[in-house]
Amino acid sequence: VDKATILSRIEEKLDALIPESSVPYRALFSAARYSLLGAGKRLRPLLLIATVDALGGDIERAFKSACALEMVHTYSMIHDDLPCMDDDDFRRNKPTLHKAFPEAHAVLAGDFLLTQAFLTIATDGMLSDEMRIKLITVLAASSGSEGMIGGQIMDIEAEGLQLSLQNIEMIHAYKTGQLITAAMEMGGIIAHANAAHMQLLRSYGAGIGLAFQITDDIIDVTNSEQKHGRKLSSDAINNKTTYVTLMGVDVALQKAQKLVLEAKCALEQLPWPTPLLHEIADTILSRNH
Ligand code: IPE
Ligand code: IPE
Ligand code: MG
Ligand code: MG
Ligand code: MG
Repeated sequence: VDKATILSRIEEKLDALIPESSVPYRALFSAARYSLLGAGKRLRPLLLIATVDALGGDIERAFKSACALEMVHTYSMIHDDLPCMDDDDFRRNKPTLHKAFPEAHAVLAGDFLLTQAFLTIATDGMLSDEMRIKLITVLAASSGSEGMIGGQIMDIEAEGLQLSLQNIEMIHAYKTGQLITAAMEMGGIIAHANAAHMQLLRSYGAGIGLAFQITDDIIDVTNSEQKHGRKLSSDAINNKTTYVTLMGVDVALQKAQKLVLEAKCALEQLPWPTPLLHEIADTILSRNH
């Protein structure tokens, strides 16, 4: 299956899972749809589907889980942008949710997407009970204290402090790496990957995950206008230590290139061709938003 087909299927499915609604609490759906639909790159659901496909699994069974992962990612972005966190006004080419809707709506739409993600997997009739429990476990673990949320609190606490490379690498692995690794693991679960193959998928995910956050740090200074709708780097305003503040754009880019190369080496040890996963790894270096 090609990338464009997968992306349009993901878009359709997200639209159907969080539909327009006329219930008395329809504002929740409008707010969630405002952030969820449209300009996201869909990296995580794309990785999940590409993994299932590469391993010879049935991708039809994977779309709901892929969308659930994108819901958790979108919720994390909505909350990440709030005034109490990164205080950003622009995301996915438009004003952030708390700028377009009341701030309470942004908090609640984030909560809603998080909750709906788990309901989506729990009620997915195409998967066995055992598989649903495994998928929910991976998604919860990678979103929680030992994953995205743990990383977010370390990131916030670190504002204004001078961090070591080791520290920053750990924060990046938690706040960004874990949800990307979750895409690989969830794909592996749906395709019945064995333990050795799962380890290779995880190692690819961790490598491109860190590379992804390094390029995010680079884009924050080199293309802030497109990313945040303002010239001044959001990370600079918030006094974040990043790969760029520690080593400069050029060395940070070299580090990202090395990580992507290593991630592709892990892929090559799998007994199947993985052209789409290779292509996705390359797009991490070439992206500019
Ligand atoms: C942005 O994620 C935040 C990070 C974890 C670096 P993406 O760059 O994947 O954001 P969207 O989904 O494409 O908007
Ligand atoms: C966000 O990192 C990571 C998560 C929310 C998990 P950033 O704060 O650097 O992401 P952007 O730059 O706002 O997209
Ligand atoms: Mg942040
Ligand atoms: Mg941010
Ligand atoms: Mg950033």
